[in-house]
Amino acid sequence: MTRAPDLHADVGEILLTEEQIATRVAELGRRISEDYAGRPVTLVSVLKGSLPFMADLMRAIDLPLRIDLMEVSSYGGGATESSGLVRILKDLSATIEREDVLIVEDIIDTGLTLNYLVRYLRGKNPATLRICTLLDKPARRLVEIPVDYIGFTIPDQFVVGYGLDYGELYRNLRFVGVLRPEVYAGPAEAEVAGV
Ligand code: PRP
Repeated sequence: MTRAPDLHADVGEILLTEEQIATRVAELGRRISEDYAGRPVTLVSVLKGSLPFMADLMRAIDLPLRIDLMEVSSYGGGATESSGLVRILKDLSATIEREDVLIVEDIIDTGLTLNYLVRYLRGKNPATLRICTLLDKPARRLVEIPVDYIGFTIPDQFVVGYGLDYGELYRNLRFVGVLRPEVYAGPAEAEVAGV
């Protein structure tokens, strides 16, 4: 029988506590509110990982704002890798033409997903298009993306929690933690990773 995941035991190290995340999200919200200074903004969240971040960030922003949701998936990548070929599973539900749009992401890894999304959304003629990500993992970047707001820059470790998943689980953890390699790797790979 397959082992039921133990959400807490499967996390080896807590990288960002609930408190650290809350403090940083509040700071980001203040900065965004100042930068847009009373202008309405449209937040475009990229499901599913950005859901908790979006929910907290929007309430930390003191501006008139609209929200829209997109869901994309990358073709062909393994469970812990993205391939760069992006498929839109859920598109915007309203026009963003001439609006100030802020993309809300949970993590930028290779940058391939956002690279695609930025081109796609630019084609819809927003007045401005900026990016806010909770986590940035620059070590794995394959394509350069100018990011306007970054919550935390993190090392090249497989992280879960606060929206981030492995096999669709762990998203409901209140913190961001490093998944133990033995959870996603075979025993040989886990040994190489030093566990
Ligand atoms: C994650 C994350 C980004 C993307 C980043 O989404 O939310 O959209 O990967 O990776 P990249 O920079 O290498 O392209 P994922 O495809 O895992 O979907 P999810 O948000 O539903 O978990």
